[in-house]
Amino acid sequence: MTPRIQLTDAAPHQTLTLEFPAEGVALTGRVRVPGDKSISHRSLMLGAIARGETRIQGLLLGEDPRSTAACFAAMGVGISPLEAEWVTVQGVGLGNLQEPADVLNAGNSGTTLRLMLGLLASHPDRYFAVTGDGSLRSRPMDRVIKPLTQMGAAIWGRQNNRLAPLAVRGQRLKPIHYQSPVASAQIKSCILLAGLMTEGKTTVTEPSLSRDHSERMLRAFGADISVDPDTCSVTVHGPATLTGQTVVVPGDISSAAFWLVAGAITPGSDLVIENVGINPTRTGILDALEAMEADITLENRRDVTGEPVADLRVRHSRLKAAHFGGDLIPRLIDEVPVLAVAALFAEGTTVITDAAELRVKECDRLSVMASQLASLGAQIEEQPDGLTIHGGSPLTGAVVDSYTDHRIAMAMAIAALRTQGVMTVKRAEAAAVSYPSFRATLAQLCGLSPTPAS
Ligand code: S3P
Repeated sequence: MTPRIQLTDAAPHQTLTLEFPAEGVALTGRVRVPGDKSISHRSLMLGAIARGETRIQGLLLGEDPRSTAACFAAMGVGISPLEAEWVTVQGVGLGNLQEPADVLNAGNSGTTLRLMLGLLASHPDRYFAVTGDGSLRSRPMDRVIKPLTQMGAAIWGRQNNRLAPLAVRGQRLKPIHYQSPVASAQIKSCILLAGLMTEGKTTVTEPSLSRDHSERMLRAFGADISVDPDTCSVTVHGPATLTGQTVVVPGDISSAAFWLVAGAITPGSDLVIENVGINPTRTGILDALEAMEADITLENRRDVTGEPVADLRVRHSRLKAAHFGGDLIPRLIDEVPVLAVAALFAEGTTVITDAAELRVKECDRLSVMASQLASLGAQIEEQPDGLTIHGGSPLTGAVVDSYTDHRIAMAMAIAALRTQGVMTVKRAEAAAVSYPSFRATLAQLCGLSPTPAS
């Protein structure tokens, strides 16, 4: 049989039906993944608050960066159409975001809401109201409201200032040294952005290092940033002056992870994912798959506007179970759903620990991955801070649900490659948050579509 990858639109939701030959389908060819989501958000935000023009190539056209662009446009920032090869942002300069006439809507994007809060809170005498979709309105915002309040911010929200919608009255802030209880780039970046307009040294210390795109890009835009890798501390010396830059956004390793796992688990596969960001704070998935004895090689390594990039080649291999936890987890936090899929096809029992943060992502990813994979026949147990996955049980088609979480939708589609019978993914439209062309690329890799898609 030829593979079946079929989308049914039943507004407001879409259903993805997947069926692959019993002998599996070998994935071959070269693909490009869309731009890195974290770097896309930051390029729009720093462009917005810098002086002069910022030019961005390779911006992710997913729903999340669109939310960021819409919020900053509503605060007076000129942003050219996002579909163009080069997007230009006409920066207003630090402290010059206008008071928006309506509620700012961050959609599904935690990065938009949490990073933006640092900027809003530090715009004296301006009032902002911010909200998001149902998922975002249930995610904890106190993790950034608490440190911002220590800096003197005035923020109100539901459930004792924990949940959006939020109201912000901008203030002149004071610098703090914040010891973050979790390794979170959103917390770290929020505080650093608040520190830009704050006189003195604002420092964040994390229990282990989270992604450092903010530090790299802030420095490139001219901020005075110092990093102490031994203590996982970053300091911004405010007030800063930022100048517009050219940013070339590399492909997102979190999106590439779906193809890395797809190639590793499907016999006969040999594919190259071009132009992927390999910032060491993001390459935990490469380390994890290597520990599972996946066959992955890095080719054509280079540096692109301050971020390391390579082409990743993956070939099928027999995977072995492994244990993952500790400092590795922040380096692959968004890849745990698809890593769990890889573990289903590995020999032995894979244990993932120290990953309780997954419970406060776009959905409770530990609970949802455990329940949805179990419905296919997987032997998987949910733990308070992780998953235990027994490899080797055959999977049988069933109806599964994304819970409106983009990475769950895509991880389930990758599991379908090695599932017997028909898998139906409900609410599959969620993939567009970070990877609008995911289905087209899956079809291309299965030999169903002649046109390369990214
Ligand atoms: C992100 C940080 C991570 C990650 C998210 C993007 C960022 O969240 O899960 O997808 O761009 O800063 P946390 O900071 O909550 O770990």
